[in-house]
Amino acid sequence: MSDRDIKAPDLAALLTHKSEKWTSFPRDVLPLPVAEMDYPVADSIKKLLHEMVDASDLGYLGNIPELGEAFACFALERWDWKVDPLQVRLGTDVGVAVVEILRIITKPGDKVLVNSPVYQNFYNWLTETGAEKIDVPFIRSDEENTFDNPWEINWPEIEKVYSSGIKVHLICSPHNPLGRIYSKEELLRLVELAKKNDVIIISDEIHAPLTYKDSHFVPMLALGKDAEECCITVTAASKGWNIAGLKCAIIVTQSETMKEKMSHLPFALHYRASLFGAYASAIAFKEGGIWLDSVIENLDHNRYLIRDLLTSMLPTVKYHVPQNGYLAWLDLSALNLGEDPSVTLVERGKVAFNAGHYYAPHTSQYVRLNFATSPEIVTEAINRIRKAL
Ligand SMILES: Cc1ncc(COP(=O)(O)O)c(C=O)c1O
Repeated sequence: MSDRDIKAPDLAALLTHKSEKWTSFPRDVLPLPVAEMDYPVADSIKKLLHEMVDASDLGYLGNIPELGEAFACFALERWDWKVDPLQVRLGTDVGVAVVEILRIITKPGDKVLVNSPVYQNFYNWLTETGAEKIDVPFIRSDEENTFDNPWEINWPEIEKVYSSGIKVHLICSPHNPLGRIYSKEELLRLVELAKKNDVIIISDEIHAPLTYKDSHFVPMLALGKDAEECCITVTAASKGWNIAGLKCAIIVTQSETMKEKMSHLPFALHYRASLFGAYASAIAFKEGGIWLDSVIENLDHNRYLIRDLLTSMLPTVKYHVPQNGYLAWLDLSALNLGEDPSVTLVERGKVAFNAGHYYAPHTSQYVRLNFATSPEIVTEAINRIRKAL
């Protein structure tokens, strides 16, 4: 198999994996939670890691200017975003980076805005730093199952909250679990509010490399001077190239103001990333484009396969086709699967998804399905939902 023609292995091969996704459930349960992909890793990353192991090159991480440079090239080519490589800092992973940033720009008790349903660790990061969570949930706009993304920003509430003394707005862009891309207009409106109310926006852009060709991802820091003054981006190659276990993320700023603030980050944050992670990330951004496009083709097929399978087998399940990434956000309310459908589905259907209540209390009838796998496994997962009814 070449990087141009990536295919997920069969179930027997996947069952040998040691990662969380493949070790959290009994072997007769088909696991589709945890945001990692089943595809074989890119050749360039594999080769680099083999060479490092063969040479016993397993020590501490030193300076790695190549990572900032490779990310800058990737960002320019994919998103027309001009990144200053000298303002690219390393962190252990996105979670640790966001927590360390919050520690230097907020005090315990400061208010941080999030928008549920959202990646559950956003809540854990706020708890870890003692910040007070302020939630302005997205609003679901449709009643009909149109397959278009129905989740809209509640602007009147956002405006109210911005002028009520929040310190930070933590956004997930593109959005997990909604698979939603913020438009340029939406991001500019947030930047305007942030400038006016002295709020810092932290933009978690870890899913951005996995944007479909018919959608347009806009990096927060590509929006001009005002955004540069009040925004910080945290991202990684770990989601796009499926190397989360290697541990490395990057923090990107683009103004003297934000650069000065980030200079207070603990010095050790850089060295708490791994040597493997930093070098694998650099090669992913530099040489991983062909592999990435092949993976996006697989995901593109699967996002429509889910639509077709649901239409024919489970037409009352609500699903919108994501604009980014490999997470399907399914509303199972109509199936009457009890208080937590994810538990019922493991028990009766032998198929595992992430529970909707992780992402917001009001989305407990949803599940998040990870479709970064083969079409056969996606089909089997939908079959198992049907069998559980
Ligand atoms: C939005 C978002 N941010 C961060 C992470 C985790 O990143 P890391 O493993 O680098 O902490 C995930 C993982 O699913 C995610 O979806």
